[in-house]
Amino acid sequence: MPQISRETTEQVLAATDIVDVIGGYIPVKRAGPSFKALCPFHNEKTPSFNINPQRQFFHCFGCGKSGDAITFVREYENLTFTDAVKKLASRAGITVVEEAPDPKEDRARRQRGRLLDIHREVARFLHEMLFTREATHARDYLKSRGFGKEMAVRWQVGWMPERPQVFMDWARAKKFSGRDLVDSGIFVQKEQGGIYVRFRDRLMFPVCNDYGDVIAFSGRQLREDPRSGKYINSPETALFKKSNVLFALERARKSVLKEDAVLICEGQIDVICCHEQGIEHAVATLGTALTENHARLLRRYAKNAILCYDADKAGIAATEKAFRVLAAESIPVRVVRMPAGEDPDSFMQKNGAEAFRSILANAGDFFDSVIDRAAAENRLADTQQRSAFARECASLLSVIADPVSRDGMINHVATRLRAGVPELRDAVLRAARKAKFQPANRRHDSEPEPEKTEPAAIDPVVGYLCSLALHSQAAQDWLGEQFETLHEASDHLAGIPLLESILSARPDAASHAAVNSFMAGLPEAQRLALLSDPTFHNDPPEEPVAAAEIALAELSARVLHRRDESVKAQMARPDLPPDEMIRLLQETKQIADLLKGINQRFVFSDRFAPSRKASPKPFDRRKPPFPGRENNS
Ligand code: CTP
Ligand code: MN
Repeated sequence: MPQISRETTEQVLAATDIVDVIGGYIPVKRAGPSFKALCPFHNEKTPSFNINPQRQFFHCFGCGKSGDAITFVREYENLTFTDAVKKLASRAGITVVEEAPDPKEDRARRQRGRLLDIHREVARFLHEMLFTREATHARDYLKSRGFGKEMAVRWQVGWMPERPQVFMDWARAKKFSGRDLVDSGIFVQKEQGGIYVRFRDRLMFPVCNDYGDVIAFSGRQLREDPRSGKYINSPETALFKKSNVLFALERARKSVLKEDAVLICEGQIDVICCHEQGIEHAVATLGTALTENHARLLRRYAKNAILCYDADKAGIAATEKAFRVLAAESIPVRVVRMPAGEDPDSFMQKNGAEAFRSILANAGDFFDSVIDRAAAENRLADTQQRSAFARECASLLSVIADPVSRDGMINHVATRLRAGVPELRDAVLRAARKAKFQPANRRHDSEPEPEKTEPAAIDPVVGYLCSLALHSQAAQDWLGEQFETLHEASDHLAGIPLLESILSARPDAASHAAVNSFMAGLPEAQRLALLSDPTFHNDPPEEPVAAAEIALAELSARVLHRRDESVKAQMARPDLPPDEMIRLLQETKQIADLLKGINQRFVFSDRFAPSRKASPKPFDRRKPPFPGRENNS
């Protein structure tokens, strides 16, 4: 159940343009009054994903997914309803008020708010400090690495003064509480009491979350000093969990989608250098190896990953670890061949951005890099060595989650090593089994797959009436008076409770935000039932009340048919007493009369014939939905 009030949801949807939102994730093209895109939810070559700006809805005619901006963000980013609303709210500058907030959560939320304020202000202050006279050496250092003022401004690079007093005084003047300053990680609590600044005389790189808010800092030493690390990052705080955060992801997102791949580097300087050269799909982890969380986060945006780690021993180990977590999330991995001892930054300094682009374009599959290295190290000289190495590869192959890619890669590796495919496949199976019984993997394995909700069953006529009630206020008002007919139908046709809940909630059909937020409050199965009804995505007919009248008549006819079937089934019983038989006969007669009456007044299309599958073809606006309505007589 959503914890956010319907008013807030409506407000958020009203302040949101779905085309903007979706356009922030995938490229969209205008096509007449609507927009088209390649569906991000299934694989396709020609766009069948439609965005209707009037209705503020998307619908894919290929895979059937549809919904409003909240649904899109939720599905695209694997978020909960609440988080999706919050995300859109923050985009629209709306404060989300949760109903009946849990006091503990409320306190945590308020603290996060204060920490965000601190980070924002600190980033601003440190950035100003970079341009002071005391920071000449910091600017010179940046220059020595090929970065000018524009880069510093674009990345809000700052300088933490050498004398902590300068920063302390500023923080005190700002009236931040000592507790919050320590909780922000920018200050450290001394054991003997008091606080000190974590960073000193460092270049300060702000680290941002998805919305572009500063949530942490990474500080680089300006003068080599072995007593302290080259980089000092913020510790884990309420805002910053390093296993969830990728440097520059908020900037890289669009390009990752465009390039269909994310470029993962080792350091933030490398990432900045890439972006500054227009290679904007680059991100980096911050003082940690790539984690499962990172891979899951990346999966929202990236179909492929390109790793660009150092060519040294640590880099090779990091590449393998990253491959394991990415392959487990079905993200294919390519590896950039860097000359030994270089990282993207140093490579570009020496050889220029074009040269880097070209080694990037030549990034080969992870397994090719593994095999090439073994060959270069002369480890594949004879058959025996090669099959031993194939077995080494088995463990890596076994982590590929997608069975088709795994099989393809087994073939590829076997071919390159001139080993037997069945033998390698066997070795992979054994490796997979072995991994499964390692305690570290157990937990993951026993996690149940999140269940996919199936749409609730809904009779096509009922579905049509629901769409009418949601798209036309007149039809909704008229249907609201037909409760007896609907009540009678509820024993016979699926979906009546959904229609009834629309008619009792009475969402304003003229407001898409109201309709969308009503839908957002429905149980998932009912919402999906509405969304998968093709009539839901069409414009209402020109005469909605007349259309509702005909559809309701058809509904009655269907109910009568059902009743007729059940009466006839009872009549077929061999032990039926004669008076009961007479009663049932009378009932069939009565049903037949009622049906005749309806059929005299209305002619139905075959739109809702039970055998016909609902087709996603939109209504033709000019035609009434049920052609052939007779002149009222
Ligand atoms: N790192 C860290 N703490 C250190 C050293 C490194 O957190 N003491 C992290 C930083 O995020 C850094 C990344 O590991 O960006 C890669 O480290 P390294 O390759 O040593 O640094 P470079 O990125 O090459 O940085 P620079 O070019 O400034 O030397
Ligand atoms: Mn470097």
